[in-house]
Amino acid sequence: MGKNFDIKDTSLADYGRRRIDWAEAEMPVLRQIRERFASQRPLKGVRLSACLHVTAETANLMRTLAAGGADVVLCASNPLSTQDDVAASLVVHDEIPVYAIKGEDHETYYKHITAALDHNPQITMDDGADLVTGVLKQRPDLIPAMLGSTEETTTGVIRLKAMAADGVLKFPVIAVNDSDTKHLFDNRYGTGQSTLDGILRATNVLLAGKTFVVGGYGYCSRGIAERARGLGANVIVTEVDPIRALEAAMDGYRVMPMREAVKVADFVVTATGNKNVLDAEDFAVMKDGCIVANSGHFNVEINIPDLEAMAVEKRQPRAFVDQYILKDGRRINLLGEGRLINLASAEGHPSAVMDMSFANQALASEYLLTHRGKLPNGVHALPKEVDREIASLKLASMGITIDTLTPEQAKYLASWEEGT
Ligand SMILES: NC(=O)c1ccc[n+]([C@@H]2O[C@H](COP(=O)([O-])OP(=O)(O)OC[C@H]3O[C@@H](n4cnc5c(N)ncnc54)[C@H](O)[C@@H]3O)[C@@H](O)[C@H]2O)c1
Repeated sequence: MGKNFDIKDTSLADYGRRRIDWAEAEMPVLRQIRERFASQRPLKGVRLSACLHVTAETANLMRTLAAGGADVVLCASNPLSTQDDVAASLVVHDEIPVYAIKGEDHETYYKHITAALDHNPQITMDDGADLVTGVLKQRPDLIPAMLGSTEETTTGVIRLKAMAADGVLKFPVIAVNDSDTKHLFDNRYGTGQSTLDGILRATNVLLAGKTFVVGGYGYCSRGIAERARGLGANVIVTEVDPIRALEAAMDGYRVMPMREAVKVADFVVTATGNKNVLDAEDFAVMKDGCIVANSGHFNVEINIPDLEAMAVEKRQPRAFVDQYILKDGRRINLLGEGRLINLASAEGHPSAVMDMSFANQALASEYLLTHRGKLPNGVHALPKEVDREIASLKLASMGITIDTLTPEQAKYLASWEEGT
């Protein structure tokens, strides 16, 4: 070892390794990239700092980057999402420095980000733009040597585009979230399944016959709505975008303002990337016993300071459940401190979707190197061919073959002269 790290307990490493191997079995695309990286070493000597949820799937990405020759360190992108056994395995078995402890406080969280920046990265890999923000605010001295950054999530991409619009983003960033093989699968099927998993692990309550409100109808929230409906819940969607609201209505959900929905809700789950989607006025009329959770990136979607202020008592009936008792005796059950519930009380996305998200991450870091000096500062998507290649590899790993265009069809699609 001999390198710096800050994790909970190195003795958890062997269990972590078994779980990393279990996840790898569901990650065939990333495995193929790792094999190629190990022989071609495209990232040789590059210092790379990653700030991601420290999960078994992320461990497989870190090992892929290291196989490609990168000098990697990892810190957490959320104080509650770290899997301590995985962090231990990366440190003990792979000699990758990790700075992450599940449940770390605010100060430790930022100390760990600083440690990742102290690695003097040439590439940063973010899930929520914390490292890029750190480079811009704390360590602008790193900018001249930066090849660029990659960003995993919707909220991070929104922030990076705001930085670019303000003219402060001084290097290129690849928006991995914008790849179809990322947001169409990870955000929808991954967040859908794992959010329900998190709610069930935290509460073990029956969903069938209950009223389940989903805040937003974006890629994450539509996955959550679909899975809640699949478990027999009556799903209501709230939106601010008329097109998405219309989609939700035509997909068969009831659509109404949040203030109306909370009066009948047994569950409210937010995944919008916005703040105060559930606010004091909603708590004031919320049904007694309502279970409230968030799966959006930051813990600001539910106005927790207002909920704290309105409560006369707070209990913890189960792990990951805070029960707030209001003046009139109503109880509001907040899960996972309002942080991403799929990572707080469950294990995050299933490996099979992270396979594609992290294939995009690995290829994005290679892309930054092969396009060194050629990409303008700002936010870029990976080329469509990369997306299609990842989808083709995934299909092949699932034993699915598809048709190909005949030359006649390709010519027909490219022409405008042929009519009825
Ligand atoms: N839990 C996870 O593991 C996970 C995975 C991927 C993304 N995310 C995060 O989830 C959030 C949503 O991501 P997405 O890809 O679905 O984004 P998206 O942009 O596709 O969808 C967000 C939706 O929320 C709606 N919205 C905004 N403010 C609202 C409000 N006040 N009330 C109701 N609806 C509102 C928007 O109109 C939009 O349709 C982001 O913060 C993203 O970073 C979480």
